[in-house]
Amino acid sequence: MEFFTSLEKILKTQDTEEKITEFSLFYKAYHDKQLSFYHDSSPIVFTSPSYAKTCRIVDARVIPKRTALSTTKGKALLIHAIAHIEYSAIDLALDHAYRFRHMPQKFYDDWLEVAEDEIRHFLLCEALLKQHGYHYGSFDVHAFLFDVSQKSLDLLTRMAVVPRHLEASGLDANPQMIQKLSKHHDSFAKACISTLETILKEEVSHVQKGDYWFKWACQREGVDPEKYFDIVEKVLPGAKKKKPFVNVKARQKAGFSCKELRLITDQECQE
Ligand SMILES: [Fe+2]
Ligand SMILES: [Fe+2]
Repeated sequence: MEFFTSLEKILKTQDTEEKITEFSLFYKAYHDKQLSFYHDSSPIVFTSPSYAKTCRIVDARVIPKRTALSTTKGKALLIHAIAHIEYSAIDLALDHAYRFRHMPQKFYDDWLEVAEDEIRHFLLCEALLKQHGYHYGSFDVHAFLFDVSQKSLDLLTRMAVVPRHLEASGLDANPQMIQKLSKHHDSFAKACISTLETILKEEVSHVQKGDYWFKWACQREGVDPEKYFDIVEKVLPGAKKKKPFVNVKARQKAGFSCKELRLITDQECQE
């Protein structure tokens, strides 16, 4: 079993259950040091996301707003959106490990560990959906995360844009969703909150890993890490704009400096 060939196969697998089973067999073989590494093969660029047959992909602008959290369907829509982020994040983490070759072992350890976390997050959301008569694929999704990942194909850009920017944005969005849900006291809302809390706690380490490898890539390529937002802006224009809410504490824990955070928020930040 070869590491990169196996990852490519898992990334291409469209059936969600099959992908998760394949990953756990692969991850066990990785831990047991049963995999060979052929770093000189070339990674392919994917043209469609692996969930294209599970979910109907639409333009992000036509996805319904998740405002009606008092209804079961409203909460299902919210948790479906999270399930979709988590599912996309499985492929993103696997793609980091697949795409970048000749990296230190820790790089592969880190992103496979993240993929395992994302699988757990996805399964938590999927279980909640199933309990309420829905499943992954019940609602339309957008392919934003996939599109961004395949537009950031060098290590420096990928680490800046995906784990250090997009996953950090998740740290900001998560407490806001928890706050909206906490106005509702039904068991579904409570279960959504507990799932979101678990995800928030674990996502900090994903951003931390992104921070570590972004700075590692900066050092290797002689790039000033302070150019971070300029790098992100090239793929995601507007990334440097001030945001209504930034999870300053979680972002600091994940490696952001106050100097950087002041570019995107007026909230207080103490080193
Ligand atoms: Fe996650
Ligand atoms: Fe994550």
